[in-house]
Order: sequence, then C-alpha cells, then structure tokens
Amino acid sequence: MSISFDAEKRTFELQTQNTCYQLSVDRTGVLRHLYYGKRVGGTNMRYLEKCCDRGFSGSPYDFQTDHGCSADLMSQEYSSFGVGDYRPSALAAVLENGSRSIELHYQDFEIEEGKYIPEGLPYVRENRDAVSTLTVRLLDETAGLEVSLIYSVFEEKDVITRSAFIRNQDERSIVLLKAASFCLDFPYGDYDLIHFSGRHCMERKPERTKLTQAVTVIESKRGMSSHHANPFVILCDPEANEHSGHCFGFMLMYSGSHKEEISKDQAGSIRLTVGIQDEGFSWTLSPGEAFQTPEVILSFSDEGLNGLSGRFHRILRENVCDQRFIGRKLPVLLNSWEACYFDFDLEKLLKLADESRDLGIELFVLDDGWFGSREDDHRGLGDWYANEKRLPGGLNRLSEEIHARGMQFGIWVEPEMVNENSDLYRKHPDYVLKDPGRKPVMARNQLVLDLTRREVRDYLFVSISRILEEAKIEYVKWDFNRSISNLWTVSLPAERQGEAGHRYVLGLYDLLSRIRKAFPEVMIEGCAGGGGRFDAGMLFYCPQIWCSDNTDPAARLSIQRGTSYGYPPCTMGSHVSAAPNHQTGRSVSMKTRGITAMAGAFGFELNPVSLTEEEKAEVCEMIRTYHSYEDLVRHGVYYRLTEQEEPFTAWEFVSQDKSEVLVSLVITHLEANSAFPYVKLRGLDPERQYRMEGMEGDNEAVEPLSGAALMYGGFAFDALRGDFPGEQVYFRALQV
Ligand code: DGJ
Repeated sequence: MSISFDAEKRTFELQTQNTCYQLSVDRTGVLRHLYYGKRVGGTNMRYLEKCCDRGFSGSPYDFQTDHGCSADLMSQEYSSFGVGDYRPSALAAVLENGSRSIELHYQDFEIEEGKYIPEGLPYVRENRDAVSTLTVRLLDETAGLEVSLIYSVFEEKDVITRSAFIRNQDERSIVLLKAASFCLDFPYGDYDLIHFSGRHCMERKPERTKLTQAVTVIESKRGMSSHHANPFVILCDPEANEHSGHCFGFMLMYSGSHKEEISKDQAGSIRLTVGIQDEGFSWTLSPGEAFQTPEVILSFSDEGLNGLSGRFHRILRENVCDQRFIGRKLPVLLNSWEACYFDFDLEKLLKLADESRDLGIELFVLDDGWFGSREDDHRGLGDWYANEKRLPGGLNRLSEEIHARGMQFGIWVEPEMVNENSDLYRKHPDYVLKDPGRKPVMARNQLVLDLTRREVRDYLFVSISRILEEAKIEYVKWDFNRSISNLWTVSLPAERQGEAGHRYVLGLYDLLSRIRKAFPEVMIEGCAGGGGRFDAGMLFYCPQIWCSDNTDPAARLSIQRGTSYGYPPCTMGSHVSAAPNHQTGRSVSMKTRGITAMAGAFGFELNPVSLTEEEKAEVCEMIRTYHSYEDLVRHGVYYRLTEQEEPFTAWEFVSQDKSEVLVSLVITHLEANSAFPYVKLRGLDPERQYRMEGMEGDNEAVEPLSGAALMYGGFAFDALRGDFPGEQVYFRALQV
C-alpha cells in the first residue's frame, strides 16, 4: 500500500517508487505539510518543523504557550484566508454574516484502493496502474465548511494527483471567493521557478527566475488556459539542468482561467498554490452544496528537467490521453488552411487531395470555410451545414471523393463561437455571453456562445453530431479563436454571475464528453489559434493539440521544446509548411522542416500543387522516413540533449526497450569554422552495441558503437551549412 498513517505521530505518508510526501496533524488540529521529495527511508520529517513566534505574525488561539507559534511560518496543507497566515491562501470565502475568516481543523481520513474521479472534470485515469487514494477531511466548525483534500498516488509512475472537495455543512449560504486545487509549502531551500509564457504564435517559452521575497503570479484571465501562461510550473534546485538536479512539476488539469502563485516569505519558505483564477470568481454554496476543484498532477525527479518531463510525458500519454488513439498508428495528414485559407471550391480541394495522396498523405483535413456563408472570418460561424455553392453535394460527397482516393477525411469546427453575421446569431442572439446593456468586446469578429447553458450545448451537440453522422469523418479539428470577455450569462442570478467562467469550462467538458461518447472512433485534435489551450484538461478529450499557428521551423523548435517540458511530443500537432513561411517570411530547407515536424504529431500544412518535382520527391522520402520512426516518436522516451537552443538544439527519442535511438539536430546560429555539433546521447543501454543507419538507409561502413561510448564519449555531427540546417541520425542496437 502506497499510503500509510502513523496513528501515534498522526502522520500520513504517501510513497511512490522514488518519492515521498508527508503531512501531519499538529496538536491543535491544523493539517501541516511536512515533506515532498526524494524518499527519506521512513523518517518522519516532523523533526524539521520549528515553532517560533515572530513580530507581526499571529498564532492560532489554541497554540498559546508562551508567545505561540506564528501561523504564517507554519507549513500548511491547505491554507485559508483571514486567520493569521499572510501568504497566498488556497481557500477564501465569505459567510452569510460577512465574516471572511476560515479556519480548518482535521476531522478524519479514509484510504481506498483506486483512483478518485472528480465529477464533470477531466482527470488522470487509473488505467492499469495500482493507485491508492487518501482523503483527509477538514472542517471549519464555526462556518460549517468542510474541505476534503484528496490525494491519489500512482506509485510506479512517481505521480500524485491532488484536488479539493468543498462542502457547505451549514444552514446558511457560503460564498467561495477562491478555491485552489492545492497548496504546497517548502519550509527550507532555494529554488528556481520555471514557467511557460508566450503569446499567439510564440507559445510556452520557458522563463527561469530565482525566487525572491515576493509573490510571483502566473495566470490567465482569458477564459482559456492561454498562449500567454501555461498552467504548468516547475520548482527546481538553482543548479538543476536538463540532466541532473531536483525538480518538482505541478500541472493543473484545467482549460479555463487559472492562477499559480509562488511566494517566498519573510522566513525564506516557499509556498505554491495552483487552481482556478480567483479574480472574477465566486461560487455560492447553498446548504448541502459542494464544489470540486480541478485536479493537479504533481511529480518530482532527481534526474533533472528531462527526468521530470519523462514522468509527465508518461502519465499524460498513458493515463490522460485516450488510449484508443495513443496506441495506434495515426495517418499523416494534410490540413488545407495554409494551402488555400478561405479560397477553395470542390475542384480545388480534389486537386489538393490527388496531389496529397500521390505524396503518401493519408488523411485530408478541410479547415475553416466549408460551412454556412463562411467565405471569410466575418461571417457564418455557428452555421454548421456545408456551403453547397462551394461544395456541391456537401460534406458527404467530398468525403466520398476523398475516401475513394484511399484517404481518410477530417474537418475543422469552432463550436464555441458565433459571428453576428450568421443564421445562428440572427435566430438566437441570446445564445452568447454578453453583459446586459453593454456592447460586447469583439475579437476576430466573433462572440462566445454561452456554454453554461444546457440548451446551447444541446444545440451544438446536435449540430456536430449531424455532421459526423452525415458524412464519413475520421478526424475533427476543434478550434477556439478568441479570449473570453463579458462573462455574463442569463442562466445565473446576479449573485451567482461569478460562477460563469468555471461553468463555461464545465460546459465545454460536458460537450466534449458527449461527443467523445457518441463518436468514440473520431479523433478530435484540440486547437485554440494554435496552442492557446494546450493543457492536460484538453488532452483528456483531445489526444493531440495543434501546438502553434506558427509553422516556421525556426520558431517551432522553441515552441515545441518549451512545450516538451510538460507535454509529450506525440500530443503536439506539428506540420511541414511552405517556404517562405506564412507567419515569418523565413525560408528553411524542406529537410529541416521535416525534422522539426517529425518531433510531434506529423502532418503537412501546404499546397502540394505548388511544390517542384524535387520538393515532391523530398516529401515522399520524408513521409517514408517518418513511418519508420513513428513508433519511436510516439512511444519512445524523449530527451532534450542541449541546455540551450543556440548555437544548435538537439533532441533524442529512445525506444522503451532501448533498441532504437533517433537523434535530431538543427543549427540555430551558424558561424563559419565553428566546432562540430557534438552531443552526448542519453538513456541507452551502455552494454549494447548500436549501429548507425543514415536517413537514406543503412550505413554499413560505420562500425557499431557501444551505448556507453555514445553516452559518455558522445557523438559529433558533420559540419552543416545553410539557414537552419538540420540532420537526423538513427541507431539500432545489434541483436545479441
Ligand atoms: C486558427 C487555427 O489555429 C488555424 O490553424 C486555422 O484553423 C484557423 N484558426 C482557421 O480559422
């Protein structure tokens, strides 16, 4: 059993293969955090706890000894506002009498086999893992507010999930003002914070900062997890690098507005709270009602950032993503967006399809523009029926034509949005989120549908189902192209409007679940103007997500590298596009475009009709190469081989049995007569012999090299020339 309770010391211990997490009830009933990190051989970590009283730091009443024990120096398991802990709180609420103080005390606990499932929310699935769950019940007797802290332990994967279930036991209403998913205190030590910030077309750039006495806030208020601040943060030793050092990762499984607060206080201790964004949030709990927070995934590694990434990749790939898609080979797709934008008709699409098929492309995806009056981005959004002028015979005919060419067929939708110029809006102007009496904020000429409402979700479910029933469609790209504003819904009374943001996200999850259930074989790829909703919540429904609207390989290298800290490459939609690139105007060789796109869910985003014969031959070869590496990329262990992106960036996939290795490299800053690009490989079997095979087939001339040589002696690439030149080498272990 991975969870134990020491009744004498009132201490809980959660153990995974390499980590341990301890919490304990103190003599006044406060649930205190003791430790999280590498296993400590059964030692109760309470010995590290120091009780002291500082000026201007109050003590819980029951603690009165001489001066007391300052509440804001205690390591707490779930801190609350108003009772002397001045660091960021996990929980804040207002009672019917106006009081805003919440004081939680331990009640009891339960340990069960199996995984806790939060209702209406995405979660880490149990699958074939041995999982145990601890629930610790806390209560504020005066307020009648009960908080159950829930911990599920994935022993073999070194992962713990946490969430909180908050119930009003009182006869009066309680309004939650903040309900974080978890709180974690590190009483000692120096840590760096790494978070992933960015913007549209440049998502998830790692930012590493030293923590100082301040509160650092990573947040989104956009109603989406956002391009700007991903709900994933890392705390690590200041000296930690890609391959060594202690690193902790915290990933919120949530797709709406979120907040991560990292504070370093007067005494140097560090607190982290992660959860739903509290600005604009409130949630009324009538007597007996409860609130469930989203889940957070926690992991720790003492093998540097790659070690931590590996743990997140594994849990997301095996326990979050739908195994139906992760387990199978996925077709190489061509998406029509950058090939023709809104400028197409049936004839043009079929020409594209013919050319694509000849190149070896297996799935043809029709992007925006196929429905209603959608001839540009000012109109038609919301009208989910084919534009017969453009597509005579509708989606059914197109789908038949595509299938007749031996390819699968996919379409683009953006169900959560509407243009004012659409039949849907003319019929149901009330379906949108919009403040009464105020003109709404516009973005990309569109408004957001009110997914808090069941009838709106039903309309969308019926519309999307009709499309998927009428034509044979194997793939759907689910887009979302603006941040949310004017969060006001007719579905809630004035005092509950603070619930709209979270209810929207719950509505989205409900809609996605219904569609997934009705059409389990249809792959849904998530998208939000590229990677604006690249989060573990969306991955629960969409096993891959379009990583960015920026398809320039030079930029993609950074975006995909940044994304890889938390998310596995197989979840990153990644396409070869045209040169010059449409977003940056930069021209990069076809080879480098291929190498970059192959580090993800591989596809194309260009017009094959405009390729030269030479380029077509390169594409055919690239697709063959991809197929030979596909399993390795989808299921292998991924390593970032270089600490920086300049002067070159290199990465590696190693198969689970260590028999295959693919190393890719791109020069990002080229200088004349520079050193040969050199890397040390990772994760190989030191005892085995590996033979290098070139991209163009076996290179018999090269002697086999031991795993030890490749890892400790390293490997030097030949000098490369040109703009962002790239190379791939593949090693196969010799049979013993
Ligand atoms: C934004 C997406 O990220 C693009 O790939 C494309 O689908 C457009 N939307 C279509 O409007």
